Amino acid sequence: MVLTEEDFNAMEKLDRVQLATTLPGPKPICLVGTRSNEGATNLAPFSSITHLGSTPILMGMVTRPDTVERHTLQNIIDTGSWTLNHVTSGMVKQAHQCSARYPGSEFEATGLNEIYHDGIIAPFVEESAVRFALELEDLVDIPSNGTKLIVGRVIFAEVPDTDLDLIKAGTLASTALDTYFSLNEVARLPYARP
Ligand SMILES: Cc1cc2nc3c(=O)[nH]c(=O)nc-3n(C[C@H](O)[C@H](O)[C@H](O)COP(=O)(O)O)c2cc1C
Repeated sequence: MVLTEEDFNAMEKLDRVQLATTLPGPKPICLVGTRSNEGATNLAPFSSITHLGSTPILMGMVTRPDTVERHTLQNIIDTGSWTLNHVTSGMVKQAHQCSARYPGSEFEATGLNEIYHDGIIAPFVEESAVRFALELEDLVDIPSNGTKLIVGRVIFAEVPDTDLDLIKAGTLASTALDTYFSLNEVARLPYARP
């Protein structure tokens, strides 16, 4: 099947969103934990998370245009702090539910538990086996569509061990905005040389 830009434009909006968010293949899925200046906590699932560098450890994630109130973005701008918490199968429904636009805290709404670490403003999700905290480095406007790339430096991580086994940790992957996958290792290969 061949699709052109004409076909994309003719699609129902939801069908186009589904295709566009599945085309990159499987993506991570983390709950982004933030806190407002007034102390209100917020959780939202994000899948557009990618590694940008290792020294220091930098991660980027894309936020939708701020045409409506975006708690995650606003809290990150206000406090410079957020956490990323891996989603596992035991909490996938609650994690998904956090994408609903609650006026209050998604912790309260879904029953997920918040925990804190010294010196870090943003809340962590107790139920996640892998969780880490970031500090805002850059906020990059993407003029083509009004989205923003939020760039953060990882300052703290809580993991089962340093050889991070994501299968053992129960970490899930995602596509689109509604489908979640468990992981299955196919190969671990040596550094490739010509
Ligand atoms: C599986 C999944 C992945 C998502 N990924 C993103 C993302 O990468 N960026 C984004 O801005 N919103 C993403 N969303 C939508 C947000 O979770 C949703 O807009 C949420 O209400 C934002 O909450 P906030 O206003 O509290 O920040 C995703 C939703 C789901 C269900």
